Amino acid sequence: MKKIEAICLLLLISIGCYAQIIPGAIWPDTKGNPVNAHGGGILYYNGTYYWYGEIKQGVTWRVPGSTWENYRVNAGGISCYSSKDLLHWKPEGVALQPVTTDSTSDLHVSKVIERPKVIYNKKTGKFVMWMHIDSQDYSYARSGVAVSDSPEGPFKYIRSVRPNGNMARDMTIFQDDDGDAYHFYSSEENQTMHICKLADDYLSHTGDDRRILVQHAREAPAVCKYNNRFYLFTSGCTGWSPNAASYATADSIMGTWTLHDNPCHGTDADSTYHAQSTYVLPVQGKKDTFIFMADRWNKTNLETSRYIWLPLTFDAEGTPGIQWEDQLMP
Ligand code: GAL
Repeated sequence: MKKIEAICLLLLISIGCYAQIIPGAIWPDTKGNPVNAHGGGILYYNGTYYWYGEIKQGVTWRVPGSTWENYRVNAGGISCYSSKDLLHWKPEGVALQPVTTDSTSDLHVSKVIERPKVIYNKKTGKFVMWMHIDSQDYSYARSGVAVSDSPEGPFKYIRSVRPNGNMARDMTIFQDDDGDAYHFYSSEENQTMHICKLADDYLSHTGDDRRILVQHAREAPAVCKYNNRFYLFTSGCTGWSPNAASYATADSIMGTWTLHDNPCHGTDADSTYHAQSTYVLPVQGKKDTFIFMADRWNKTNLETSRYIWLPLTFDAEGTPGIQWEDQLMP
């Protein structure tokens, strides 16, 4: 942390009044440490929000011999924070622990554990986490699943898969109102997105697997439903470096998806405000209120990456819009 950032953080904590979300700023948790939950997603359960994300901690290095900007930190597992108001986040510890001993484990610190998303299964009473699991060179390209009896974890890792035999990297999970859940994943060397319906227990994939945005090279998927239409926000594929977002729409989730332009407006819209999508959060109790969540990666010092949360609004035609705000009151 830079000195000036540390001073600001102390100031905020001492006056106890970070009453707004400040996109791009250090976000202190209720113990005063910066929230460490990157590539994250949020579960709302029983009156509480749970934020899960990648723990990025320690030295960032570039994987030797990589032809692209393959910067990484040791995989730190998945964190969990809880909040009632989306502003104050209580650290709930490490929801999914990395493995330090067995180097063949999917969760070994040398591996990639990214973009966790958790949903609750009403039928089984289990919390199910899906995440991107990879090798350091990203050739493993799989999705991992873990399960827990409580939202804070500990989550028990089950296995990783290539859904229906397909490569799977950046991903999200969308749970529809009827309880059906869908896995969106960048596949085919990140050139084509897939949507696959999960089995009723959410622990495996069905054969209902659809190719969308074929050859459009989109990743970092984030999905929401508004007025019975489905919206999929994505980034282009430029690693940790930001690029312009785009969105796609469909009237049924396994139907035809149409790709549209950038939903961001104003200064820095062409780089998604120097960030990359990770999740769209429906704010509870506020009809049609959504927050677009993104990561502002700092590729050479990943631990200091920040969060960009901005309002996602829809006009009368259902066109989504994202605009920069210096402060956000959820
Ligand atoms: C991005 C991806 C991130 C991370 C990064 C590694 O394209 O969205 O989640 O995998 O590449 O360079």
